Amino acid sequence: MRVLVIGSGAREHALALAASHDPAVTALGCAPGNPGTAAVAETLGVDLTDPAAIAGLAVSWRADLVVIGPEVPLVAGAADAVRAEGIACFGPSAAAARIEGSKAFAKDVMNAAGVPTARSEVVDNPAHLDAALARFGPTWVVKDDGLAAGKGVVVTTDVERARKHALMLLDGGHPVVLESFLDGPEASLFCLVDGRTVVPLLPAQDFKRVGDDDTGPNTGGMGAYAPLPWAPPGLVDEVVATVVQPVVDELDRRGAPFQGLLYAGLALTSAGPQVIEFNCRFGDPETQVVLPLLRTPLAGLLHAAATGSLDRHPPLDWSGGAAVTVVLAADGYPGKPRTGDVITGSEGDGVLHAGTRRREDGAVVSAGGRVLSVVGVADDLGTAREDAYARVA
Ligand code: AMP
Ligand code: GLY
Repeated sequence: MRVLVIGSGAREHALALAASHDPAVTALGCAPGNPGTAAVAETLGVDLTDPAAIAGLAVSWRADLVVIGPEVPLVAGAADAVRAEGIACFGPSAAAARIEGSKAFAKDVMNAAGVPTARSEVVDNPAHLDAALARFGPTWVVKDDGLAAGKGVVVTTDVERARKHALMLLDGGHPVVLESFLDGPEASLFCLVDGRTVVPLLPAQDFKRVGDDDTGPNTGGMGAYAPLPWAPPGLVDEVVATVVQPVVDELDRRGAPFQGLLYAGLALTSAGPQVIEFNCRFGDPETQVVLPLLRTPLAGLLHAAATGSLDRHPPLDWSGGAAVTVVLAADGYPGKPRTGDVITGSEGDGVLHAGTRRREDGAVVSAGGRVLSVVGVADDLGTAREDAYARVA
């Protein structure tokens, strides 16, 4: 099987690395890739915002399976374009990707499916903002309605701060979503979906704030671990039954069946699991800790999801250990990052590349906000964490 991974982050490096261990894979490509993926896959060029270019590459490279990592091409319809060429694609249609691309659409689907989530209101007129803010609190959650790479959210007990963020978004022409605050630990549950059948992966947790001890602005995720030793037994089954399957059924009923990875971002509240958000793709950095624990060959599994045959796939095989990743970000992130700094030691095991670039002299340099995702794997969580930080050092 010729497998083409689309994307250039540490998530795609993790996907390509796992696919490279699948004996069924005869050729592996990654577009646009990065210096890390180049060690396991052929690097190909593509514009991630251009569905026709992605489909064209899939045809010319003779891909049997295309795995689309990021949300931007999915929301733009890259999976539709690939499937229109008769090539299996792991990733939802543009219609199904709206579950991530529009928070208002996600809320509508959840309400129709009876899925527990925060109460919310969309505000698109600054004149209605103060009255709407008064209906929320004492902790305010203010979000951008569209794709914001995890950075469009402010959670605050300061109503002035909430107001300023909302006005800033509205000024930019973005509708704002206000939400009730969900209290409780967060968990990310990734589910493979073939349109109807749902196969959950191990639950993980990521840390979104930039600073130590979970402080500072939200980012795309600064670190993650899996599995969750504190999670109640039965959590995964409960979330599939009360959250994921109902949403998958509702999307199918609307004529927008979901094929790919449905990521449920959950708050485990005293009233049970509630949805914070859905993503239409593998999470970053959680993928970097979930995939190293999976023994089942990845490409065959994703191919089954892409071709509607997950119900005939054997049960997943997990290694039983734990994994931890630490994201190394550039100075300035999540604002404008400093780039061009030389990185040493980036070729080691467990070092996944994101914003890196190989300079003409061969040196690997930073080229983005999220630079590396360093992964430790061990029998238990504490040792995996030590292993991750030892590699970082
Ligand atoms: P999102 O971009 O929707 O994933 O939000 C980013 C982060 O903001 C989440 O991971 C949570 O930590 C936090 N967050 C978002 N919505 C809520 C909510 N309704 N209640 C509490 N925290 C939230
Ligand atoms: N880890 C958060 C995300 O992938 O959106």
